Amino acid sequence: MTHIPFVVAENAQEIAQTVAAEIAALIRERNAEGRSTVLGLATGNTPILLYRELVRLHREEGLDFSRVITFNLDEYYPMQPDSSQSYHYFMHHHLFDHVNVPASQIHIPDGFLSRDAIADFCAAYEQKIQQAGGLDFQLLGIGENGHIGFNEPGSARDSRTRLVRLDATTRRNAAGDFGGEDLVPREAISMGVATILEARRIVLIATGSKKATIMQKVLHSAASSDIPATFLQLHENATIYVDTAAHASLV
Ligand code: PGA
Repeated sequence: MTHIPFVVAENAQEIAQTVAAEIAALIRERNAEGRSTVLGLATGNTPILLYRELVRLHREEGLDFSRVITFNLDEYYPMQPDSSQSYHYFMHHHLFDHVNVPASQIHIPDGFLSRDAIADFCAAYEQKIQQAGGLDFQLLGIGENGHIGFNEPGSARDSRTRLVRLDATTRRNAAGDFGGEDLVPREAISMGVATILEARRIVLIATGSKKATIMQKVLHSAASSDIPATFLQLHENATIYVDTAAHASLV
């Protein structure tokens, strides 16, 4: 059985508001102390409402992102940053174009490196997270196969930022974004499980009925690389938010 606290919310919007409020409180507390806030950010459909709420808090309530430092979980490889399928594009479209995080404080894995530059890039990415003081808050979605970031089934507890091969399920689910499964990149650069678990706070959000089966497994399986999200059981300050649809079969 799981030890990960989980919260069932009525719907995705309620989760977005709750999690955005937590992030906003953290940013305000750090700003008041003149310190930075280091956020680990996720892409996919799940966090879109949350980013919309953060943008609203910035516009309407003056939430100041000028001291925020961000590290995204992953990027496809190969991927040009200006491609509309890139996670660079996603993050700018949904968040960075609408809030005041300085560009120099935004970090997203580079999917446009030459292959022989990847290992050094990944080591430097880990180093930058450390130099920023470590991740204060890591946001996660979950894949239908239990991946977090692009840590697919089989990813080790001690994995770090690296080049990974995408799982068949992941590529099938991304087919719509790329106009066919064959066009989905086969690889990605992803933070590792160890990178994620070092965050001081982790929030995983799962919404919609497609996530019900994997959530049941995550909450009822021992921690193992078969379902990477189960590694959150090893973290002392992680919370899972599910909506009623993703919770449907958890009883
Ligand atoms: P989704 O992806 O938010 O688009 O469902 C989540 C994930 O694969 O991590």
